Amino acid sequence: MSSTVCRILMVSAVIALTAAQLRAHDGPHPPQKVADADAHRPSPLPDRIILTWSQDPTTTQSVNWRTDATVAAAFAEIAEAGDGPLFRQVARRVAAETSLLATDLGDCHYHSVTFEGLVPETRYAYRVGDGENWSEWNQFLTASTQPHPFSFVYFGDAQNEVKSMWSRVIREAYRDAPRAAFLLHAGDLINHAHADAEWGEWHQAASHIHRMIPCIATPGNHEYDHLISDAGIELEKQLSTHWRPQFCLPENGPAGQEELAYWIDYQAARIISLNSNRDQAGQVPWLETVLANNPQRWTILTFHHPIYSAKENRDNPQLRELWQPIFDKYKVDIVLQGHDHSYARSKLMVGDQNVTAGTAARDDAGTVYVVSVSGPKMYEVSRRDFMARSAEDTQLYQIIHIDGDELRYEARTAVGKLYDAFTIKKRDGQANELIEQIPDVPENRREQKAAG
Ligand SMILES: [Fe+2]
Repeated sequence: MSSTVCRILMVSAVIALTAAQLRAHDGPHPPQKVADADAHRPSPLPDRIILTWSQDPTTTQSVNWRTDATVAAAFAEIAEAGDGPLFRQVARRVAAETSLLATDLGDCHYHSVTFEGLVPETRYAYRVGDGENWSEWNQFLTASTQPHPFSFVYFGDAQNEVKSMWSRVIREAYRDAPRAAFLLHAGDLINHAHADAEWGEWHQAASHIHRMIPCIATPGNHEYDHLISDAGIELEKQLSTHWRPQFCLPENGPAGQEELAYWIDYQAARIISLNSNRDQAGQVPWLETVLANNPQRWTILTFHHPIYSAKENRDNPQLRELWQPIFDKYKVDIVLQGHDHSYARSKLMVGDQNVTAGTAARDDAGTVYVVSVSGPKMYEVSRRDFMARSAEDTQLYQIIHIDGDELRYEARTAVGKLYDAFTIKKRDGQANELIEQIPDVPENRREQKAAG
C-alpha cells in the first residue's frame, strides 16, 4: 500500500469516527414509522398479483396486478408448466388491459389479462410484467370438466390489522389446504373501502398464495364507503375504487351488479355471490334463474350480511324474508357469510326451523348457514336456537371438501385446531343428511375465559 493511500485511509477513518461521535452525542434516534405512501409505493415491478375467474375455470384464468403509472404497456406470458425450465421457450404473450387508479396514496396502474383457450386439468406457469421487469413464474391448475373432488377455503371478515393479524390465518389455511381450488372471501376484506394501504396489507398478507390459488370475493359493507352529508344523511354508497381494477370477477350478474353478484361453476359445484349491500330485491329474479338452471350437484352461496345473525340485534329479517324462500325452494346446500365477527353455524334450516334430516315432516333439503370471522376484530355472540356451534374471540378458516355426494366441512382456528366439523350427504329423492362431527372441545366463549 502506498503512503498516499495510507494517508487517505487514515483521514477517512478520522472522518468516520467524527460522524459516529456526532451520532453518539445526539443520542439514539427513536424509530420512525415508515409512511404508508412509502410502504405501499408502486414501482415498475409487478405486485398485488392475484388470480380470479371472469369466465369458465376449465379453460380460462384471469390475473390482475399493479405497477406504477410509468408502465403504459404490460403483458402476461403463459405456457404449460414443465418439469424443467424449457417451458419458457414456448410461452405466449398476451397484452394486458391497463387502467389508471388514483388512490389516497397516489396514482398507479392496474393491469389485467384473461388467458383463454386453456386445457382443463392442466398446470400452467405464467408471469406478468412490462417486457423488462417481470414477476416470477407462478403456477396454477385449470379445473376439470368432470365432477372430480376438490377443496376450497372460506374466510369470514379479515378487515382489521390485516398484515399483522390476518396473515397468520391465511398462511395456516394454506398449510392445511395447499391444493385448494380457490379461496372464498365473504366480504369485509379490508376496513376502509378506498384505503390503498389496507389493500396493500391484504395483498401482502396473502403473499404468493393468491398468485397460485384463485380468489372468489363477495363485497362487504366495508367495501363501500360511508359518506355522510353535512345534514347527517347517508349519501349514495360508493364501491371500493380498488374492487374492479384488482379483480376480474364474472359479469354474469344483474345489470349494475357485475363482479359483485355472479356465479362460477367449479367441477360439481355452482358458487354464487350475492351483493347483500345493495338492491337485494333486484337480485331475486336473477337468482331464481341461476338456481332454476343449475346443472351442478352442489349449490354454495356467499354474501356478507347473515340471514341468521350470531347476535340478536344484528339480525337481517328483510334479507331473510327476501332471499330465504328462494334458497329453500331450490335447496341451496350451504350459505357462507361474514359481518358478525364471531362464529355461528346452523343445522339444516328450512324456513326458520332447524330440520333434523330424515325426521322432517317436509322433504325439503334444508340449508346450512355459517357466519365466520378470520381477522382479529371480535364481537359477542347471542345464544340462539339455530346454532349448532358458535365461538367468540376466535379467528377461523374453513376448509370445505366436495367429493361426489359428500360435502365435508371443517372449521379450524388460527392455530390449525379443529373447532367445528360436519358432513352433508346427498341422497337421491330425499333430503340432505347432516352428520355432526363437532370435536370434543368446549366452545370458545368470553364468560368461560373470564371464569377460567
Ligand atoms: Fe366486518
